Amino acid sequence: MLSRRAFLTAVSAGVGAGALLPRFGWAAEAAGVEVPGKPGMIVRSARFLDLEMPPEFFNSWITPVPHFFVRNHMHEPSTLDAGEWKLSIGGEVETPLSLSLADLGKVEPHTVTNTLECAGNGRGFQQPRVPGVQWQRGAVGTARFTGPRLRNLLQRAGVKTTGRHVMFRGLDEVPGKVPPFIRSIPIEKAMDADTLIATHMNSAPLARHHGFPARALVPGWIGAASCKWLTEIKVLNQEFEGNFMKPGYRMPNQLISPGGEVNPDDTHAITFLGVKSVIAEPEETSSLRVRSLRIHGAAWAGEAAIARVDVSIDSGASWRPARLGTQQARYAWRLWDYAWQVPKVGEYTIMSRATDDQGRVQPQAAAWNPSGYLYNAIDQVKIHVVA
Ligand code: MTE
Repeated sequence: MLSRRAFLTAVSAGVGAGALLPRFGWAAEAAGVEVPGKPGMIVRSARFLDLEMPPEFFNSWITPVPHFFVRNHMHEPSTLDAGEWKLSIGGEVETPLSLSLADLGKVEPHTVTNTLECAGNGRGFQQPRVPGVQWQRGAVGTARFTGPRLRNLLQRAGVKTTGRHVMFRGLDEVPGKVPPFIRSIPIEKAMDADTLIATHMNSAPLARHHGFPARALVPGWIGAASCKWLTEIKVLNQEFEGNFMKPGYRMPNQLISPGGEVNPDDTHAITFLGVKSVIAEPEETSSLRVRSLRIHGAAWAGEAAIARVDVSIDSGASWRPARLGTQQARYAWRLWDYAWQVPKVGEYTIMSRATDDQGRVQPQAAAWNPSGYLYNAIDQVKIHVVA
C-alpha cells in the first residue's frame, strides 16, 4: 500500500522547466513504496505515477498488466463513470460524432500485440545526465491491445480532404501550470489498419493506470502517441502545436554533441521507435559463483522487425549470435537468450546489440539530446565471477 507518509516523502516539487524544455512534472523516486495492483515495480514517481518494470519481469513475451510500466504526466482522472463517458470526434470531418463505450463495443474489434516504450526509457543512462524521469531499462512492455480501428471511426465521421493530423486529448487532471495532455499523429498513421482505439489490454478492460475506458494505440511509435483516458479526437489541418508536441517529444534534426545547444526550430516530433535490446539477466555488479550463465533479454525495433541480436562477453571485442525466442508479432519485441560457459573467474562486461530487418544496428552511443529521448545505445552490464 502507498502509506500517507511514504506518499508524502515521495512527493517533491516538480522540477522547473527550462526555457526550451517542455513543462513536464516529475517527483523524487520513492524507494520501498508499493502501488496496489502493481507489485514489485520501481516507483520512479508517486506524485504522478511513474512505474518502471524491473529487469526480472523481462521473462514473459506478453507483459502481465501488474508488471506493465506506467507513465503519467499528471494525475489520473479521479472520477470516470464509464456509463457517462463519451468520445467526441470532430474537426475536419463531415459528421461530428459522440460515441459511448457501448457504441465502441459495437464496432468490429482488432487486436495488435505491441511493444509500448516510453520515449524517455533509458534516460538514466544518458551522459551527461539530462533532467526528467531517470528510467533505466523498464519503461517498456508488450501487451495485446484490442478495440476498434481508428480508421473505421474516422471513416464513419468522414474525414475532409483538409484533414492532415489526428489529435487526441486525455482526461488527465491538470495540476497547476501543466497544459493538458494533447498530441497529434499524421493522418496516414491514423488510417493504418493497426492503429486502434483500444478498450482492452491482454483480454481485460483497460486498467485505470493504462487509460480506462479507452486509449489510442499507435503501434511501433513512442508511448506518448498512445493517449490514455481519451475524451476527444479532432482532425486537424496541421500538426498540433502544444506542450507535449512542441517543445515536448522532439528530436534535433542534426547530431548534437553531448551537452550541446539545440535550436528549437531545427527539431522534429518523435514518431517511431529505434532498434534496441536490453539485458535482463545477469544484473549489473552481481558477484556470481557460476560456471555457466544464461544471458537473456528483449529486443524491439518499433515498426521494423528484429533480425538478430548479438552478445559480447569481452566488452565488444567479439560478438556471437543470441537465440531469438519463437514468439513474435509485428510491433512486438523478441525475447533472446545466450548460453555462456564462463571460462574463468574475473570481471566481464556483457553487451547486447540488436539489428533490425531495415539494417539499423543498435549504436555504440545514443544520439544525445537535452531530454534524453530514444536512448538505444548497446546495452551492457558488468559482472564479477568469483570462485
Ligand atoms: N496519455 C495521457 N492522457 N496522459 C499521459 O500522461 N502518457 C503517455 C502515454 N499516454 C500519457 C498518456 C506516455 S509518455 C506513455 S510512455 C504512455 O502513455 C505510457 O502508457 P502506460 O502508462 O499505459 O504504460
